[in-house]
Amino acid sequence: MEIIKSIKDFKKVRKDLKEVGFVPTMGALHKGHLSLIERSVKENEHTVVSIFVNPTQFLPGEDLDKYPRKLEADKKICELAGVDYLFFPTKDDIYFEDEVLVKAPKQSGYILEGHFRPGHFDGVVQIVNKLFHIVNPTRAYFGKKDAQQLFLINKMVKNFFWDVEIVPCDIVRDGDGLALSSRNVYLSPEARQRALLISKSLKRAAKLVQSGVLDTKTVKEEMLTILKPLDVEYVEIVDREFKLTDNIILGNTIILVAAYVDGTRLIDNIWL
Ligand code: PAF
Repeated sequence: MEIIKSIKDFKKVRKDLKEVGFVPTMGALHKGHLSLIERSVKENEHTVVSIFVNPTQFLPGEDLDKYPRKLEADKKICELAGVDYLFFPTKDDIYFEDEVLVKAPKQSGYILEGHFRPGHFDGVVQIVNKLFHIVNPTRAYFGKKDAQQLFLINKMVKNFFWDVEIVPCDIVRDGDGLALSSRNVYLSPEARQRALLISKSLKRAAKLVQSGVLDTKTVKEEMLTILKPLDVEYVEIVDREFKLTDNIILGNTIILVAAYVDGTRLIDNIWL
């Protein structure tokens, strides 16, 4: 595996590569990232993983400074998984003063996650657009756990006429049901136990829907009862176009939760 820091060097290498699978990350890799990486390695001639803790997608007061950084462990994970290139740019290489901005859409970029973290998705599309320009991937791999991010990246690809296939990858969970996230390291053992209520509420929702309960009000109420011990930010039900819906249609629904557990903000969802 080759580790490349400079954009110029990366572009030089890229010239000689045909098919490239790309997994953009902010590091602190876990089994969720690994599943994306393994899929890319399987499906592409070459795989590039980027590690860049992108400052523009963190709001003031969020966890940018304490976001876990584990470069040595990440390198090992990538190497063992068969990654060809680890791209690790610096903030100064990526961002410019008074630069041209790519913005998240005003509607779908400012509901749910975008409502509670206004501007977050501006930062996400800004960095992913830049990374796509540098890496020029054939396919790019994104987790369904960040469902709204995945939706907006697909929109960006369409709106900017990118010739990149976006590959959505299933959520990876620990044995107890907790969706894997780099932020899980913030949880004490006790908080982690309480965090399980999130996946429990989603499982309950899935069961209700599968038993024929298709009105969102009933499903949301049941979920909120389960989630009562947590500081819930939102429980919402959208269709696959991220439009809020009153009626659940199997095959076209995503149920999403964002909640704080002892100050750690966790998100999770289920695709039905
Ligand atoms: O999902 C993430 O880890 C980040 O939002 C991404 C896509 C790497 C952009 O910084």
